[in-house]
Amino acid sequence: MSSKFAPWALRSASRAVRSGVQQQPRRSFQASAFRRSEGLNVHRDSPNNNPSIPFKFNETNERLIQEVLSRYPSQYKKAAVMPLLDLGQRQHGFTSISVMNEVARILEMPPMRVYEVATFYTMYNRNPVGRFHVQCCTTTPCMLKGSDGIMKAIEEHLKIHHGETTPDNMFTFTEVECLGACANAPMVQINDDYFEDLTPEGIKSLLTALKDAAEKTGAGGMAPGLPGDYGKAEVDGAASGRPVKQGGPGYSAQGAAIPAPGPMSKRVSCEPAGGLTSLTEEPITGEQMLRKDGEL
Ligand code: FES
Repeated sequence: MSSKFAPWALRSASRAVRSGVQQQPRRSFQASAFRRSEGLNVHRDSPNNNPSIPFKFNETNERLIQEVLSRYPSQYKKAAVMPLLDLGQRQHGFTSISVMNEVARILEMPPMRVYEVATFYTMYNRNPVGRFHVQCCTTTPCMLKGSDGIMKAIEEHLKIHHGETTPDNMFTFTEVECLGACANAPMVQINDDYFEDLTPEGIKSLLTALKDAAEKTGAGGMAPGLPGDYGKAEVDGAASGRPVKQGGPGYSAQGAAIPAPGPMSKRVSCEPAGGLTSLTEEPITGEQMLRKDGEL
C-alpha cells in the first residue's frame, strides 16, 4: 500500500516546496463597473416604493384604461397589462410595486404575472428616475459612430455614472442597448424623444438647454408622481421634457431654447448624410405617366 502512494506523496511534497520558493506571477486584469444583476428583477421595499403606498389611476387615465380594455375580449383583458403599466409609469413617474399591484387588481391577474412583465421589459423604470431620463445607446452601430465619446461627455457634464441620478433629481443617466435608430447613430433617448447624429459637444449643450428650460419653467426635480412633485409636472410642455414647438429647427419654452428631437446634424431624417445617391430625378407625375401611343 505504501509503495502505491509513494510517487504521489513525493510529487506533492516537491510541489509544496516549489510553491514556497516561487513567486506567484503578478497579473493585472480589468473588470467593468460592478452592477447588481438582481437590480433588474428583484424588488426590495424602500420608503418611496413599497406596497403600503397607495396608488390609484387619475380620472383621465381611468377613461384611457376603459378605452384600452374595450379593444380586448373581456376574458382576455389581461392582454392590456403593458399599456396599463405604461399609463401607471407616466402618472406615477416610475413603475412602483403599488402601480403593479393596482394593474393586477384592475386586470384580475395574479400580481406575480404583472411583476413578470414589468421586470422583463427594461422600459419600465422600477426605481424613481429624474426629470430627464437620458438613455444612451452603446450597441455596435452607435459604438462605431462614437457612443463612447457621448457616454463620456454625459458623465463629465452631469458628473454621474450610468445608472445614477443627479443630486438635484434633474437627470438620470442609463446605458441601453439598440433603440432602433442605428442609421442616425450615435443617439440618445431623453424621456420620449430621440436625439440623433450626436457629437460630445452637441449632447452637452442639449443637456444644458434642457436643464435651463426646466429651471425657467419651475419643473425641476423628480418626474411626475414622486413625493413633493405633485402639481408641478405639467406647467408647460417643457415640464414633461417635451418642449412646445414654435417652428424652425428648435423649440422654445419660456425663453429657453431647446433643440428639436431628431438628427442634430443637417439631416432631416435618416437620408444619406452625403446627399441622395439614387432617385435623384424629379418624380414623374400627371400627363407624363400616360402612354404616348394612345393605348391608355
Ligand atoms: S445601435 Fe444605437 S440605435 Fe441601434
